[in-house]
Amino acid sequence: MSSISGLEEAVEDEFNSFFESSPPLKNMDKILETLNRFIELNSSSQGANGEGRRIVCVTSGGTTVPLEQRCVRYIDNFSSGNRGAASTENFVKAGYAVIFLYRRGTCQPYCRSLPDDPFLECFEFPDQTNIQVHTSHLEAVKSAVLEQQTAIAEDRLLKLPFSTIYEYLQMLRLIANGLKDVGPCSMFYLAAAVSDFYVPWNSMTEHKIESGSGPLDIRLAQVPKMLSVLRTNWAPKAFCISFKLETDSKILIEKATKALGKYKVHAVVANELSTRKEEVVVVSSSGNVVVRCDSDKPKSIVEDNLIRLIVDRHSTYIKESHP
Ligand code: PMT
Repeated sequence: MSSISGLEEAVEDEFNSFFESSPPLKNMDKILETLNRFIELNSSSQGANGEGRRIVCVTSGGTTVPLEQRCVRYIDNFSSGNRGAASTENFVKAGYAVIFLYRRGTCQPYCRSLPDDPFLECFEFPDQTNIQVHTSHLEAVKSAVLEQQTAIAEDRLLKLPFSTIYEYLQMLRLIANGLKDVGPCSMFYLAAAVSDFYVPWNSMTEHKIESGSGPLDIRLAQVPKMLSVLRTNWAPKAFCISFKLETDSKILIEKATKALGKYKVHAVVANELSTRKEEVVVVSSSGNVVVRCDSDKPKSIVEDNLIRLIVDRHSTYIKESHP
């Protein structure tokens, strides 16, 4: 027992030194004010079965690792943000309030049917003083605007952007802290692609790295594993779903199963890069479930069935937490 708490302490120490050396969040006071208001409003609203409204933090997109303090170059993690955006829409539909922690510039909820450059491709000028939506995009724009406005007006969607690993982890910690009192009705759905390696801020050069002196050697430090500290310290009562991404399907399930045991999350969503839009496997202590989109429904996406399953599991978790 003492060795486990020793391990937890070591991870906590790693995190404390990570945060102490991180550049502080810009607009921290504003973020905290908006976040706390959102959590307060929703936890005191009535959800299903007489409980407070459930709140999920969906993380989405990849974190960057700057190579210079006045950043020109950075290392990136692949993620279009499609999974996070589609999952957010489904959580809102299922009655949840969603804190959407997303990478700036990645896919947004309700915008998946819009063209890549909606501003330039959706609109036309019939004359010099008017702008209108092109008929071919009318339905997509109408439903994107309406659904997003409704979710925000009903206080069911809060969007918080990040770019760097420093911002991501600081914001995730703020959210976890804010959700502590929501207990089992809160959920973390960690679809963001999070950097495993980074350049510590205090060993990073301030100015743009010069390119005239041959190859560049950089030593990357390991980012502390956030999952363990989230589960044990930041939000131990929240329902927690993590993801496992691999490019080699042969090792995917084994790695996801290992992560389930190691981090004690409630389920791991395993996906392979090239098939991630068609199929995922939900790995949990009750067995592995393959989730696909419905082939007979043309607009069906894997997140429709995935979120249905996760919501069901969350309901069971809430019931078991309040016998
Ligand atoms: O955005 P899309 O293009 O739609 O693609 C979706 C997706 C493939 C990015 C998504 O489904 C997905 O798999 N996201 C997780 C990707 C990832 O970072 O996998 P990983 O195997 O490297 O990390 C596993 C888990 O460890 C993640 O839940 C991550 O939050 C966590 N982690 C990672 C690094 C770190 N320092 N601490 C962590 O806790």
